[in-house]
Amino acid sequence: MPNNEKKLNGTVIVTYRCNARCNMCNRYKEPSRPEDEITIETIKKLPRMYFTNITGGEPFIREDLKEIVRELYKKSDRIVISTNGFFTDRIIDLAKEFPQVGIRISIEGLEKTNNEIRGLENGYQRGYQTLLKLRELGLKDIGFGMTVQDKNAPDLVKLYDISDELGMEFATASLHNSFYFVESHNVIRDRQMVAENFEQLINKLLKSKSPKKWFRAYFNHGLINYIYGQKRLLPCDMSFDTFFIDPFGDVMPCNGTKNKEVMGNLNQSTWDEVWNGEQAEVVRKKVRCCERQCWMIGSVSPAMHKYIWKPAWWVVRHKIKSVFSKKPYSMYENKICRDYRDGKVTKEQLDQCSTCEFHNDKQS
Ligand SMILES: C[S@@+](CC[C@H](N)C(=O)[O-])C[C@H]1O[C@@H](n2cnc3c(N)ncnc32)[C@H](O)[C@@H]1O
Ligand code: SF4
Ligand code: SF4
Repeated sequence: MPNNEKKLNGTVIVTYRCNARCNMCNRYKEPSRPEDEITIETIKKLPRMYFTNITGGEPFIREDLKEIVRELYKKSDRIVISTNGFFTDRIIDLAKEFPQVGIRISIEGLEKTNNEIRGLENGYQRGYQTLLKLRELGLKDIGFGMTVQDKNAPDLVKLYDISDELGMEFATASLHNSFYFVESHNVIRDRQMVAENFEQLINKLLKSKSPKKWFRAYFNHGLINYIYGQKRLLPCDMSFDTFFIDPFGDVMPCNGTKNKEVMGNLNQSTWDEVWNGEQAEVVRKKVRCCERQCWMIGSVSPAMHKYIWKPAWWVVRHKIKSVFSKKPYSMYENKICRDYRDGKVTKEQLDQCSTCEFHNDKQS
Protein backbone atom coordinates (compact mmCIF):
# COMPACT_ATOMS: atom_id res chain seq x y z
CA MET A 1 0.00 0.00 0.00
CA PRO A 2 1.47 3.38 -0.92
CA ASN A 3 2.53 5.49 2.01
CA ASN A 4 1.29 9.07 2.11
CA GLU A 5 4.27 10.15 4.22
CA LYS A 6 6.54 9.64 1.21
CA LYS A 7 6.97 12.75 -0.94
CA LEU A 8 5.26 12.35 -4.32
CA ASN A 9 5.62 13.73 -7.83
CA GLY A 10 2.45 15.65 -8.71
CA THR A 11 1.02 17.48 -11.69
CA VAL A 12 -1.70 20.03 -11.05
CA ILE A 13 -3.84 20.89 -14.08
CA VAL A 14 -5.26 24.19 -12.91
CA THR A 15 -7.52 24.86 -15.90
CA TYR A 16 -8.58 23.36 -19.22
CA ARG A 17 -9.11 26.82 -20.72
CA CYS A 18 -6.60 27.80 -23.40
CA ASN A 19 -5.97 30.80 -25.64
CA ALA A 20 -3.93 28.83 -28.23
CA ARG A 21 -5.04 26.59 -31.10
CA CYS A 22 -2.31 23.99 -31.39
CA ASN A 23 -2.54 21.42 -34.18
CA MET A 24 -1.60 18.49 -31.90
CA CYS A 25 -3.73 19.38 -28.88
CA ASN A 26 -7.46 20.07 -28.90
CA ARG A 27 -7.67 20.97 -25.23
CA TYR A 28 -9.00 24.42 -26.12
CA LYS A 29 -12.09 22.75 -27.65
CA GLU A 30 -13.14 21.33 -24.26
CA PRO A 31 -12.40 24.06 -21.72
CA SER A 32 -13.34 23.90 -18.05
CA ARG A 33 -15.71 26.54 -16.63
CA PRO A 34 -13.90 28.94 -14.27
CA GLU A 35 -16.41 28.22 -11.50
CA ASP A 36 -15.65 24.46 -11.66
CA GLU A 37 -11.86 24.82 -11.47
CA ILE A 38 -9.75 23.52 -8.60
CA THR A 39 -9.84 25.81 -5.56
CA ILE A 40 -7.24 26.74 -2.96
CA GLU A 41 -9.22 24.62 -0.45
CA THR A 42 -8.66 21.51 -2.59
CA ILE A 43 -5.01 22.40 -3.25
CA LYS A 44 -4.47 22.61 0.53
CA LYS A 45 -5.39 18.89 0.73
CA LEU A 46 -2.60 17.76 -1.63
CA PRO A 47 0.25 15.71 -0.11
CA ARG A 48 3.88 16.72 0.23
CA MET A 49 5.71 16.62 -3.09
CA TYR A 50 9.35 16.60 -4.13
CA PHE A 51 8.29 17.94 -7.55
CA THR A 52 5.16 19.71 -8.76
CA ASN A 53 4.32 20.55 -12.36
CA ILE A 54 1.62 23.17 -12.88
CA THR A 55 0.00 22.91 -16.27
CA GLY A 56 -3.25 23.31 -18.21
CA GLY A 57 -4.79 24.29 -20.62
CA GLU A 58 -2.93 27.54 -20.24
CA PRO A 59 -2.23 27.95 -16.51
CA PHE A 60 -1.64 31.72 -16.72
CA ILE A 61 -5.26 32.18 -17.80
CA ARG A 62 -6.04 31.79 -14.10
CA GLU A 63 -5.68 35.17 -12.48
CA ASP A 64 -5.21 33.56 -9.05
CA LEU A 65 -2.20 31.49 -10.18
CA LYS A 66 0.08 33.31 -7.74
CA GLU A 67 -2.12 32.21 -4.82
CA ILE A 68 -2.01 28.62 -6.09
CA VAL A 69 1.79 28.72 -6.35
CA ARG A 70 2.07 30.26 -2.87
CA GLU A 71 0.01 27.38 -1.46
CA LEU A 72 1.91 24.74 -3.41
CA TYR A 73 5.29 26.02 -2.20
CA LYS A 74 4.19 25.16 1.35
CA LYS A 75 4.26 21.48 0.35
CA SER A 76 6.56 21.20 -2.65
CA ASP A 77 10.36 21.26 -2.95
CA ARG A 78 10.36 22.31 -6.59
CA ILE A 79 7.70 23.77 -8.92
CA VAL A 80 7.83 24.00 -12.71
CA ILE A 81 5.07 25.72 -14.70
CA SER A 82 4.38 24.71 -18.31
CA THR A 83 3.01 27.59 -20.37
CA ASN A 84 2.62 28.83 -23.93
CA GLY A 85 4.31 32.06 -22.81
CA PHE A 86 1.63 34.40 -24.15
CA PHE A 87 0.74 36.24 -20.94
CA THR A 88 4.14 37.85 -20.47
CA ASP A 89 3.10 40.37 -17.80
CA ARG A 90 1.50 37.71 -15.61
CA ILE A 91 4.50 35.41 -15.98
CA ILE A 92 6.95 38.18 -15.02
CA ASP A 93 4.76 39.25 -12.12
CA LEU A 94 4.71 35.69 -10.76
CA ALA A 95 8.45 35.25 -11.31
CA LYS A 96 9.16 38.40 -9.25
CA GLU A 97 7.46 36.84 -6.24
CA PHE A 98 8.86 33.33 -6.86
CA PRO A 99 12.32 33.66 -8.45
CA GLN A 100 13.03 29.99 -7.65
CA VAL A 101 10.13 28.77 -9.82
CA GLY A 102 10.81 26.82 -13.03
CA ILE A 103 9.17 28.02 -16.25
CA ARG A 104 9.01 25.99 -19.48
CA ILE A 105 7.68 27.89 -22.46
CA SER A 106 6.39 25.69 -25.27
CA ILE A 107 7.91 26.80 -28.54
CA GLU A 108 7.41 24.46 -31.47
CA GLY A 109 10.31 25.43 -33.70
CA LEU A 110 11.55 28.58 -35.42
CA GLU A 111 9.19 31.54 -35.76
CA LYS A 112 7.20 30.50 -38.85
CA THR A 113 6.83 26.87 -37.80
CA ASN A 114 5.88 27.72 -34.24
CA ASN A 115 3.25 30.22 -35.29
CA GLU A 116 1.72 27.78 -37.78
CA ILE A 117 1.55 24.99 -35.17
CA ARG A 118 0.37 27.04 -32.19
CA GLY A 119 -2.14 29.43 -33.75
CA LEU A 120 -1.16 32.19 -31.32
CA GLU A 121 -0.74 35.67 -32.72
CA ASN A 122 2.96 36.52 -32.70
CA GLY A 123 3.36 33.44 -30.46
CA TYR A 124 7.07 32.82 -31.08
CA GLN A 125 8.13 36.39 -30.28
CA ARG A 126 5.93 36.53 -27.19
CA GLY A 127 7.35 33.24 -25.87
CA TYR A 128 10.95 34.11 -26.74
CA GLN A 129 10.76 37.65 -25.32
CA THR A 130 9.17 36.29 -22.15
CA LEU A 131 12.12 33.92 -21.72
CA LEU A 132 14.59 36.79 -22.20
CA LYS A 133 12.79 38.90 -19.60
CA LEU A 134 12.81 35.98 -17.15
CA ARG A 135 16.53 35.66 -17.67
CA GLU A 136 17.01 39.39 -17.08
CA LEU A 137 15.13 38.96 -13.80
CA GLY A 138 17.72 36.37 -12.83
CA LEU A 139 15.58 33.21 -13.03
CA LYS A 140 17.74 30.12 -13.41
CA ASP A 141 15.25 27.31 -14.03
CA ILE A 142 13.85 28.43 -17.40
CA GLY A 143 13.74 26.97 -20.86
CA PHE A 144 12.02 25.79 -24.00
CA GLY A 145 9.59 22.89 -24.39
CA MET A 146 9.14 21.45 -27.89
CA THR A 147 6.75 18.69 -28.97
CA VAL A 148 8.26 17.18 -32.10
CA GLN A 149 6.07 16.28 -35.09
CA ASP A 150 6.76 15.99 -38.85
CA LYS A 151 6.23 19.71 -39.39
CA ASN A 152 8.78 20.94 -36.85
CA ALA A 153 11.36 18.13 -36.75
CA PRO A 154 13.71 20.01 -39.15
CA ASP A 155 13.80 22.88 -36.61
CA LEU A 156 14.70 20.63 -33.66
CA VAL A 157 18.47 21.14 -33.60
CA LYS A 158 18.19 24.81 -34.60
CA LEU A 159 15.91 25.51 -31.64
CA TYR A 160 18.20 23.52 -29.34
CA ASP A 161 21.12 25.69 -30.51
CA ILE A 162 19.17 28.84 -29.62
CA SER A 163 18.39 27.49 -26.14
CA ASP A 164 22.00 26.42 -25.69
CA GLU A 165 23.34 29.87 -26.61
CA LEU A 166 20.98 31.39 -24.05
CA GLY A 167 22.07 28.81 -21.46
CA MET A 168 18.50 27.58 -21.06
CA GLU A 169 16.88 24.16 -20.63
CA PHE A 170 15.54 22.33 -23.69
CA ALA A 171 12.77 19.81 -23.00
CA THR A 172 11.40 17.62 -25.79
CA ALA A 173 8.35 15.45 -26.35
CA SER A 174 6.69 13.83 -29.34
CA LEU A 175 3.09 13.32 -30.38
CA HIS A 176 0.81 11.41 -28.00
CA ASN A 177 -2.91 10.76 -28.04
CA SER A 178 -5.02 10.89 -24.89
CA PHE A 179 -8.11 12.28 -23.18
CA TYR A 180 -5.87 15.05 -21.84
CA PHE A 181 -4.88 16.30 -25.30
CA VAL A 182 -8.48 15.64 -26.53
CA GLU A 183 -6.79 13.93 -29.45
CA SER A 184 -6.69 10.43 -30.92
CA HIS A 185 -5.33 10.98 -34.43
CA ASN A 186 -1.78 12.15 -33.79
CA VAL A 187 0.89 10.07 -35.50
CA ILE A 188 4.39 10.64 -36.87
CA ARG A 189 4.25 10.06 -40.62
CA ASP A 190 7.89 10.20 -41.71
CA ARG A 191 9.51 8.32 -38.83
CA GLN A 192 12.93 8.10 -40.42
CA MET A 193 13.18 11.86 -41.02
CA VAL A 194 12.01 12.67 -37.50
CA ALA A 195 14.39 10.09 -35.98
CA GLU A 196 17.32 11.51 -37.98
CA ASN A 197 16.67 14.91 -36.40
CA PHE A 198 16.53 13.34 -32.93
CA GLU A 199 19.78 11.51 -33.74
CA GLN A 200 21.53 14.82 -34.47
CA LEU A 201 20.22 16.30 -31.22
CA ILE A 202 21.33 13.23 -29.24
CA ASN A 203 24.86 13.50 -30.63
CA LYS A 204 25.04 17.19 -29.69
CA LEU A 205 23.81 16.46 -26.18
CA LEU A 206 26.29 13.61 -25.76
CA LYS A 207 29.17 15.81 -26.82
CA SER A 208 28.30 18.50 -24.24
CA LYS A 209 30.03 18.72 -20.88
CA SER A 210 26.79 18.53 -18.93
CA PRO A 211 25.79 15.20 -17.30
CA LYS A 212 22.17 16.45 -17.28
CA LYS A 213 22.36 16.74 -21.08
CA TRP A 214 23.76 13.21 -21.40
CA PHE A 215 20.67 11.91 -19.61
CA ARG A 216 18.50 14.11 -21.85
CA ALA A 217 20.21 12.30 -24.75
CA TYR A 218 18.90 9.03 -23.31
CA PHE A 219 15.40 10.52 -23.02
CA ASN A 220 15.54 11.52 -26.70
CA HIS A 221 16.80 8.02 -27.61
CA GLY A 222 13.62 6.81 -25.88
CA LEU A 223 11.59 9.15 -28.08
CA ILE A 224 12.96 7.48 -31.22
CA ASN A 225 11.95 4.13 -29.73
CA TYR A 226 8.49 5.59 -28.96
CA ILE A 227 7.80 6.99 -32.42
CA TYR A 228 8.56 3.55 -33.87
CA GLY A 229 5.83 2.20 -31.58
CA GLN A 230 8.11 0.03 -29.45
CA LYS A 231 7.82 -1.00 -25.80
CA ARG A 232 8.97 1.67 -23.32
CA LEU A 233 12.66 1.47 -22.42
CA LEU A 234 11.72 1.74 -18.71
CA PRO A 235 8.67 0.54 -16.76
CA CYS A 236 5.81 2.99 -16.17
CA ASP A 237 5.01 3.34 -12.46
CA MET A 238 2.45 6.14 -12.66
CA SER A 239 -0.09 6.23 -9.78
CA PHE A 240 2.36 4.60 -7.34
CA ASP A 241 4.41 7.65 -6.37
CA THR A 242 3.18 10.00 -9.08
CA PHE A 243 -0.24 11.56 -9.68
CA PHE A 244 -2.12 14.11 -11.76
CA ILE A 245 -5.04 16.18 -10.51
CA ASP A 246 -7.39 17.86 -12.99
CA PRO A 247 -9.34 21.13 -12.73
CA PHE A 248 -12.34 19.21 -11.32
CA GLY A 249 -10.38 17.76 -8.39
CA ASP A 250 -10.19 14.28 -9.94
CA VAL A 251 -6.94 12.49 -9.05
CA MET A 252 -5.60 10.51 -12.00
CA PRO A 253 -2.60 8.25 -12.64
CA CYS A 254 -1.27 10.18 -15.63
CA ASN A 255 -2.24 12.15 -18.72
CA GLY A 256 -1.59 9.38 -21.26
CA THR A 257 -4.66 7.14 -21.01
CA LYS A 258 -7.19 7.01 -23.80
CA ASN A 259 -10.08 7.78 -21.46
CA LYS A 260 -9.84 9.60 -18.16
CA GLU A 261 -9.03 7.24 -15.27
CA VAL A 262 -10.07 8.48 -11.84
CA MET A 263 -8.56 7.31 -8.54
CA GLY A 264 -10.89 9.54 -6.51
CA ASN A 265 -12.06 13.14 -6.14
CA LEU A 266 -10.20 15.47 -3.80
CA ASN A 267 -12.98 18.08 -3.60
CA GLN A 268 -15.11 15.55 -1.74
CA SER A 269 -12.52 13.50 0.17
CA THR A 270 -9.25 13.76 2.03
CA TRP A 271 -5.96 12.87 0.32
CA ASP A 272 -5.69 9.64 2.36
CA GLU A 273 -9.18 8.56 1.35
CA VAL A 274 -8.35 9.05 -2.32
CA TRP A 275 -4.81 7.69 -2.35
CA ASN A 276 -5.50 4.62 -0.20
CA GLY A 277 -9.02 4.00 -1.46
CA GLU A 278 -10.42 1.05 -3.41
CA GLN A 279 -10.78 2.97 -6.66
CA ALA A 280 -7.11 3.99 -6.53
CA GLU A 281 -6.14 0.32 -6.29
CA VAL A 282 -8.35 -0.55 -9.28
CA VAL A 283 -6.58 2.14 -11.32
CA ARG A 284 -3.12 0.93 -10.17
CA LYS A 285 -3.97 -2.57 -11.39
CA LYS A 286 -4.89 -1.14 -14.80
CA VAL A 287 -1.68 0.88 -14.97
CA ARG A 288 0.33 -2.27 -14.27
CA CYS A 289 -0.83 -3.76 -17.57
CA CYS A 290 -1.15 -0.54 -19.57
CA GLU A 291 0.05 -0.96 -23.14
CA ARG A 292 0.15 2.61 -24.37
CA GLN A 293 3.94 2.90 -24.06
CA CYS A 294 3.95 6.70 -23.56
CA TRP A 295 7.32 8.41 -23.35
CA MET A 296 6.58 11.79 -21.77
CA ILE A 297 8.80 13.45 -19.20
CA GLY A 298 6.11 13.19 -16.48
CA SER A 299 6.29 9.39 -16.46
CA VAL A 300 9.89 8.98 -17.65
CA SER A 301 11.67 11.29 -15.22
CA PRO A 302 10.55 9.31 -12.11
CA ALA A 303 11.40 6.06 -13.94
CA MET A 304 14.89 7.34 -14.87
CA HIS A 305 15.56 8.07 -11.19
CA LYS A 306 14.13 4.76 -10.01
CA TYR A 307 15.88 2.59 -12.62
CA ILE A 308 18.96 4.83 -12.85
CA TRP A 309 21.38 2.00 -13.74
CA LYS A 310 19.79 1.55 -17.16
CA PRO A 311 20.13 5.15 -18.47
CA ALA A 312 23.46 5.46 -16.63
CA TRP A 313 24.91 2.42 -18.44
CA TRP A 314 23.64 3.80 -21.78
CA VAL A 315 25.33 7.16 -21.00
CA VAL A 316 28.63 5.53 -20.03
CA ARG A 317 28.75 3.45 -23.24
CA HIS A 318 28.01 6.47 -25.43
CA LYS A 319 30.41 8.78 -23.61
CA ILE A 320 33.17 6.23 -24.19
CA LYS A 321 32.21 6.07 -27.87
CA SER A 322 32.28 9.87 -28.08
CA VAL A 323 36.03 9.81 -27.31
CA PHE A 324 36.67 7.87 -30.52
CA SER A 325 33.85 8.98 -32.78
CA LYS A 326 32.30 12.24 -33.96
CA LYS A 327 28.96 10.48 -34.03
CA PRO A 328 28.71 8.36 -30.87
CA TYR A 329 25.01 7.62 -31.34
CA SER A 330 23.26 6.10 -34.33
CA MET A 331 19.49 5.65 -34.55
CA TYR A 332 20.27 2.27 -36.14
CA GLU A 333 21.34 1.00 -32.74
CA ASN A 334 17.59 0.46 -32.45
CA LYS A 335 16.71 -2.82 -34.15
CA ILE A 336 13.35 -1.44 -35.24
CA CYS A 337 15.06 1.42 -37.14
CA ARG A 338 17.24 -1.11 -38.97
CA ASP A 339 14.27 -3.34 -39.72
CA TYR A 340 12.29 -0.42 -41.15
CA ARG A 341 15.26 0.80 -43.21
CA ASP A 342 15.81 -2.73 -44.54
CA GLY A 343 12.16 -3.19 -45.48
CA LYS A 344 11.54 -5.95 -42.91
CA VAL A 345 8.77 -3.87 -41.32
CA THR A 346 6.31 -1.70 -43.23
CA LYS A 347 5.00 1.77 -42.40
CA GLU A 348 1.53 0.24 -42.01
CA GLN A 349 2.83 -2.23 -39.43
CA LEU A 350 4.45 0.59 -37.44
CA ASP A 351 1.24 2.64 -37.68
CA GLN A 352 -0.55 -0.32 -36.10
CA CYS A 353 1.79 -0.05 -33.09
CA SER A 354 0.82 3.59 -32.49
CA THR A 355 -2.11 4.86 -30.40
CA CYS A 356 -3.48 6.71 -33.43
CA GLU A 357 -7.11 5.62 -33.78
CA PHE A 358 -7.09 6.04 -37.51
CA HIS A 359 -5.12 2.82 -37.49
CA ASN A 360 -6.09 0.97 -34.35
CA ASP A 361 -8.17 1.20 -31.21
CA LYS A 362 -5.82 0.37 -28.37
CA GLN A 363 -7.36 0.60 -24.91
CA SER A 364 -5.48 1.79 -21.85
C1 LIG B 1 -0.86 20.47 -22.89
S1 LIG B 1 0.36 21.68 -22.66
C2 LIG B 1 -0.27 22.63 -21.29
C3 LIG B 1 0.59 23.81 -20.92
C4 LIG B 1 0.64 24.95 -21.92
N1 LIG B 1 -0.60 25.23 -22.50
C5 LIG B 1 1.68 24.66 -22.98
O1 LIG B 1 1.33 24.53 -24.15
O2 LIG B 1 2.84 24.58 -22.59
C6 LIG B 1 1.72 20.81 -21.89
C7 LIG B 1 2.75 20.30 -22.86
O3 LIG B 1 2.16 19.30 -23.66
C8 LIG B 1 2.69 19.41 -24.95
N2 LIG B 1 1.77 18.77 -25.89
C9 LIG B 1 0.72 19.30 -26.52
N3 LIG B 1 0.09 18.39 -27.28
C10 LIG B 1 0.76 17.24 -27.14
C11 LIG B 1 0.60 15.93 -27.66
N4 LIG B 1 -0.39 15.64 -28.47
N5 LIG B 1 1.48 14.98 -27.29
C12 LIG B 1 2.49 15.27 -26.43
N6 LIG B 1 2.70 16.49 -25.90
C13 LIG B 1 1.85 17.48 -26.25
C14 LIG B 1 2.80 20.89 -25.16
O4 LIG B 1 3.68 21.20 -26.23
C15 LIG B 1 3.31 21.33 -23.81
O5 LIG B 1 4.72 21.27 -23.79
S1 SF4 C 1 -0.58 22.50 -26.12
FE1 SF4 C 1 -0.94 23.98 -24.48
S2 SF4 C 1 -1.23 25.89 -25.62
FE2 SF4 C 1 -1.52 24.29 -27.11
S3 SF4 C 1 -3.75 23.92 -27.15
FE3 SF4 C 1 -2.80 22.44 -25.73
S4 SF4 C 1 -3.00 23.37 -23.77
FE4 SF4 C 1 -3.26 25.00 -25.26
S1 SF4 D 1 2.08 4.11 -20.33
FE1 SF4 D 1 -0.02 3.96 -19.51
S2 SF4 D 1 0.16 4.36 -17.33
FE2 SF4 D 1 2.08 5.05 -18.28
S3 SF4 D 1 1.76 7.23 -18.70
FE3 SF4 D 1 1.10 6.12 -20.53
S4 SF4 D 1 -1.10 5.75 -20.30
FE4 SF4 D 1 -0.27 6.32 -18.29
